[in-house]
Amino acid sequence: MHFNITSDSADYTKKIGNFLSKVVSTGDIIIFSGELGGGKTTFISGIAEGLGIRENIASPSFTIINLYNVSGRNKLVHIDFYRLESSKEMFDIGLEDYIYDNTSIICIEWGGKFKKYLFKDFLEITLNYVIENKGMEEPTKRLIGFESSNSYWDKKLEKFKRVSGIK
Ligand SMILES: Nc1ncnc2c1ncn2[C@@H]1O[C@H](COP(=O)(O)OP(=O)(O)OP(=O)(O)O)[C@@H](O)[C@H]1O
Ligand SMILES: [Mg+2]
Repeated sequence: MHFNITSDSADYTKKIGNFLSKVVSTGDIIIFSGELGGGKTTFISGIAEGLGIRENIASPSFTIINLYNVSGRNKLVHIDFYRLESSKEMFDIGLEDYIYDNTSIICIEWGGKFKKYLFKDFLEITLNYVIENKGMEEPTKRLIGFESSNSYWDKKLEKFKRVSGIK
């Protein structure tokens, strides 16, 4: 399944992330692709907010991986592949353990880089700038693409459309 949503502001992108959080489960992997500064971290901070996380969501570009407690034993695992140079490094950061520990919701910025080596089906979200007029202002419009390739994620996206009211 593939569809796009247009966002006009960082707040709206966060809100979409918040709606998506209502359909995610432990063991899920969501990868984020698209341009530098497209809004990947912003979207994930909306997911975190929807999961009840109160902490500020920092970019993991340098730390590579940030963990946030959700509730009980569960956690949000926020990863950034930007600085990784090989798929081997995915194993070094313990990605496989998080995938199978049944307590992790995994969001990976620049996840497209090594997507053929991921061990499990994932949802792919792509955020790109929409440039309307070449003015001096920072563009705030983004095209957010959702791409699923199995019935597990198709069902979740249908539910996401229902809860968010997005057509
Ligand atoms: N519609 C929008 N959606 C998301 N962010 C927006 C939007 N409009 C403006 N912004 C701004 O764009 C920036 C997006 O930064 P963010 O760190 O979320 O991007 P990123 O894709 O994670 O970047 P990087 O590629 O460096 O990891 C923020 O400063 C945010 O406020
Ligand atoms: Mg980021």
